[in-house]
Amino acid sequence: MEEPALLAELGDVAGLNVLDLGCGDAALGAMLLQQGCASYLGIDGSQEMVTRAEVTLQDHRGTVALQNMEDLSLPAESVDLVVSRLALHYLEDLDAVLRACRATLRPGGRLCFSVLHPVITSSDVHSHPGPRGSWTVDDYFLSGARERLWMGDTVTWFHRTVEQYVGAITGAGFNLTALSECEPVPGRFGGDESELARRRRVPLFLFLSARAA
Ligand SMILES: C[S@@+](CC[C@H](N)C(=O)[O-])C[C@H]1O[C@@H](n2cnc3c(N)ncnc32)[C@H](O)[C@@H]1O
Repeated sequence: MEEPALLAELGDVAGLNVLDLGCGDAALGAMLLQQGCASYLGIDGSQEMVTRAEVTLQDHRGTVALQNMEDLSLPAESVDLVVSRLALHYLEDLDAVLRACRATLRPGGRLCFSVLHPVITSSDVHSHPGPRGSWTVDDYFLSGARERLWMGDTVTWFHRTVEQYVGAITGAGFNLTALSECEPVPGRFGGDESELARRRRVPLFLFLSARAA
């Protein structure tokens, strides 16, 4: 559900040097390279995902590196666009990574990322058989680590409020240019009205876009 917001905000990527943080299988990289970006570098801390990304990119010019986002170190002002989909909520020190992104971006370069919505990261997520019909938001203003059962695995993510995400962006030297809570787009549900109605109940994703100040 965050793809429409992402695509609308990315706009024309032709000629851009792109860095993807927590790139996973680099499906986004393949798409951006097809759209004419000048270069694509995906980094991911998981060897399994890097291997998958290498397969995805084998017919493209993109590259992928096994690296934690916390260790980001690229030449200053060498990147035009930093993207990240559903990965930055795994960071304890988001501020440091956003500062590193700012340093690696050219003046006017952009940062576009999605995270699990803070309504989700705040909540008590238990494994749940079948689609959920409701959600309990709790401890919203207690930011920090949350260990959760998520899609069959135990994961640790770091909850932040919407306000804290915006503060981290501006504090790292960016001007916020867009904020989307990724409202479901009816045309993407293939006529499944009950799923659309369910997805209208609780926001799943937060998408933020900013420009280097
Ligand atoms: C939910 S997946 C999203 C993958 C991809 N961006 C996508 O949209 O398909 C999150 C990814 O972030 C990676 N990741 C999590 N913490 C990381 C870290 N500290 N440094 C680098 N990668 C990390 C995981 O290995 C995983 O591939």
